[in-house]
Amino acid sequence: MNIKQKIEILQHELTHAQYLYYVKDAPLMSDYEYDQKYRELVNLETAHPEYIVSSSPTQRIGLKVEGPFDKVVHGRPMLSLSNVFNADEVRGFDNRITKELGRRTSGYVVELKIDGLAVNLHYEHGVLIRAVTRGDGRVGEDVTANVRTIKSIPLYLENAPDFIEIRGEAYMPHSEFKRINEERDEEGLPTFVNPRNAAAGSLRQQDPAITANRNLAFFAYAIGSEAGANIHTQQELLHRLEDFHFSVNPHYRLCHTVDEIIEAIDYWNIKRHELPYDTDGMVIKVNDFDDQEILGSTAKDPKWATAFKYAPEEVETIVKDITINVGRTGVLTPTGELEPVFVSGTNVKRVTLHNQDFITEKDIRIGDHVVIHKAAEIIPEVIRVLTDKRTGTEEPFVIPNTCPVCESPTVRRDGEAAIRCTNAYCPAIEKEQIIHFASRDAMNIDGLGPSIVENLISYKLIKNVVDLYHLTVDDLVIMERMGKKSAENLVKAIADSKTRGLDRVLYGLGIRLIGSKAASTIASVVGSMDRFLTITKEELIAVEEIGPTMADSIVDYRNNPQHIAIINGLMQAGLTMTVNVADEIGNEMDGEIVVLTGKLESMGRSEASKILESHGAKVTGSVSKKTTLVVAGEDSGSKLAKANELGIRVINEEELLALIKSWS
Ligand code: IVH
Repeated sequence: MNIKQKIEILQHELTHAQYLYYVKDAPLMSDYEYDQKYRELVNLETAHPEYIVSSSPTQRIGLKVEGPFDKVVHGRPMLSLSNVFNADEVRGFDNRITKELGRRTSGYVVELKIDGLAVNLHYEHGVLIRAVTRGDGRVGEDVTANVRTIKSIPLYLENAPDFIEIRGEAYMPHSEFKRINEERDEEGLPTFVNPRNAAAGSLRQQDPAITANRNLAFFAYAIGSEAGANIHTQQELLHRLEDFHFSVNPHYRLCHTVDEIIEAIDYWNIKRHELPYDTDGMVIKVNDFDDQEILGSTAKDPKWATAFKYAPEEVETIVKDITINVGRTGVLTPTGELEPVFVSGTNVKRVTLHNQDFITEKDIRIGDHVVIHKAAEIIPEVIRVLTDKRTGTEEPFVIPNTCPVCESPTVRRDGEAAIRCTNAYCPAIEKEQIIHFASRDAMNIDGLGPSIVENLISYKLIKNVVDLYHLTVDDLVIMERMGKKSAENLVKAIADSKTRGLDRVLYGLGIRLIGSKAASTIASVVGSMDRFLTITKEELIAVEEIGPTMADSIVDYRNNPQHIAIINGLMQAGLTMTVNVADEIGNEMDGEIVVLTGKLESMGRSEASKILESHGAKVTGSVSKKTTLVVAGEDSGSKLAKANELGIRVINEEELLALIKSWS
């Protein structure tokens, strides 16, 4: 086999692996095997750049886009949809169709309305050449570089016509939304209000590496242009999209009567809260394309389709107070303390108010009646203030210009929404940094939670993370409520954390923009802390998923002598500063798709995921037909029930431990 063939085979194999992983949720190979092959391909392509094609899986992340995005006029306008809000209006829609056609249409396809952004993909000779946002329907923006990073979008279509347009919805799954907002909160960046805004913001990045890190997804639902000539119904079209290896939302239903449509709408009104992405309604489409053609469109919307919009769950409460928390990077985050209220399944007492701009723009005052809802089904959010209910006693709120913890002045940097404490030694910042370092995804130091860290600091036993590794039992027992046994346990837990490996240390350092995934990518590239300290910006950018902004942040971090002192201190304390290769080699769980649910006493779910993944398993968040194993800890709820319903193998924590043990 010559080099060219070898490269083509790897390109093909990795493309297929991405498809199975991101579209079919059924991985073909372990992450480890994928990474190995990917690196082999990068090496071969670097040596033989003449064989790089734009559809190679190594070419998803391109160079930074300079300047504003180009405007593109859509060949055919991207229409919006008319709305209906209740069963009567659905019947009205069906009646209009029957009237216009002079007979009943043969059926309707009812699809979930995904709450993301419509994107139009242009493929020429099968190759993805352009991706355009909907914009105002007539003119959109060219976001090709960013859309290419969405792994469920094929870069190449097999057996495609010369030119084809594919339309669908780019969206952000809840898990990503949560992860990104948590990271942004820590970094003092403004958080996204909902997954839709987060997806929109991600598509408008200048640096595609940032978009790639946001892990957007895409559901295809339409073919623009004339290329669909041989397709006769919406149902056929969805099958055709699947043949092209697009991700098509599986929850569509072909309905023959209005009652069936209404049944589907009612069903999903409840069920949609369990989906891992936001939906804001259902789209009802005439199935038959000839009928669609006859019905035609108004200037704005097609007459053959309409969107049923669900009423969002909104409740009223009162902002009793606004408090300030100082985070790891010194950001002062305001929180609304609420009159407790029940929303989408839980009691909500607090709501983040993000930053001063959010408070000012919404004009939120202490004492205000507000309407709240849950973003991404989990995060409470203030939608609006009920100004009519004001009595005149409400107090406007301004984030103070001194830090509530150390009283140093606060500043707002140009272009940032965050207001920060200016004191690098602010006890709040040091405390949060230590809490982050000890947290589960970082060094995972058992028993070192926020209140113990607070105590250790107030007893002046520690100032930074290096001090942790010099604590002795004798130091600890002077603390109130700290017995000898707990002191011994804590010292042991800290010592145990020394061997976590470079990826955990890098994440634990709390470098701006470096989340746990980026940290492990960087760790596997540099291999050692020494190399991390010398790797250049250019070398970092050459790594998949690391863009210039992240590289800059790493360089900035290293330029600070205090940070270098911390790293040296950790090295001297004997922390493992290399990658734990031993963790990556197991393949006992290859092909297994595992869901962890409930409480795991011995290790926690993220630790368990890491172990399972390092042995080849894919760990996912929700139980589906593809799940092969469910690990049910204490207090397992609906996921366990679903697993039983689907007849999926379930094991408990003890059995999991036995399984892990059997591998060593
Ligand atoms: S069909 C002409 N199908 O809803 C047909 N749209 O309010 C137009 N959307 O701009 C689109 N899920 O962003 C269609 N299954 C689905 C959809 C969907 C979400 C969005 C799309 C569109 C908006 C219309």
